[in-house]
Amino acid sequence: MLAQVSPWYAHAAQRLAAAPAHALTAPARMEWSTCPGLGPGAEILGRDLRGKHILELGCGPGHNVAHLAKHRQAHVTGVDLIGLQVRRARSHYGHIAGATFAAGHALHHLQATGRTFDAIYSVFGAVGLVAPALLLAAISRRLQPGGVLAFSVPHPARAGRHPSTDGRPREDYVTMPDRTRLPVARWEFDTRTWAAHLSRTGLRITSAQELRHPHRAPWPTTLLITARKR
Ligand SMILES: C[S@@+](CC[C@H](N)C(=O)[O-])C[C@H]1O[C@@H](n2cnc3c(N)ncnc32)[C@H](O)[C@@H]1O
Repeated sequence: MLAQVSPWYAHAAQRLAAAPAHALTAPARMEWSTCPGLGPGAEILGRDLRGKHILELGCGPGHNVAHLAKHRQAHVTGVDLIGLQVRRARSHYGHIAGATFAAGHALHHLQATGRTFDAIYSVFGAVGLVAPALLLAAISRRLQPGGVLAFSVPHPARAGRHPSTDGRPREDYVTMPDRTRLPVARWEFDTRTWAAHLSRTGLRITSAQELRHPHRAPWPTTLLITARKR
């Protein structure tokens, strides 16, 4: 557990030490990768998101929560493990109607919340960082029938790596704002393995896209998966 918490805490603490968080305007686009403008936007969560209830698992500074609340008129809750990140997200976007932020582990939040959602998503967030059998089952229980799960993860074949062939997490790194790296455990599956895990929890995979950062060819950098609750 400590190995999972520390890098994310260190990341948030470095960011806040570098620059105090202040109010921001909501980004005009939802991003699924670290390369702005790459791939689809919010439309993969549904064509009309007005009044929909949406949950982000691992929201960090809350940019996508802000976009969905401000520009798509959705009711969005962003959850993050690190209280400092949640404070940062509230400083940036707490003024936007429909945007709410909560501190907690994604799995615990899903287990404790009494509500269901039209869509749940993760952008390099909790999906891939928490045991998939547990997290996907908890997500599935909190999705309405027909609800959408979308998540992006670092591509399992990025920089010449290979997807896991067993069910265990692999060592990966989080790059800190000061460019040092700290280890994290990450489940790194190919699309077929994600589809099998999704299917076991009542979720049917509906798309899988490989996004390529234009300066990091020839390998794909991000895997973006959507699924629907049966
Ligand atoms: C790489 S950042 C991505 C942040 C945000 N989704 C974005 O795109 O800007 C990963 C975030 O996931 C959070 N996180 C990691 N494990 C988590 C967990 N088990 N539950 C909730 N949040 C988690 C971290 O604290 C961190 O803020």
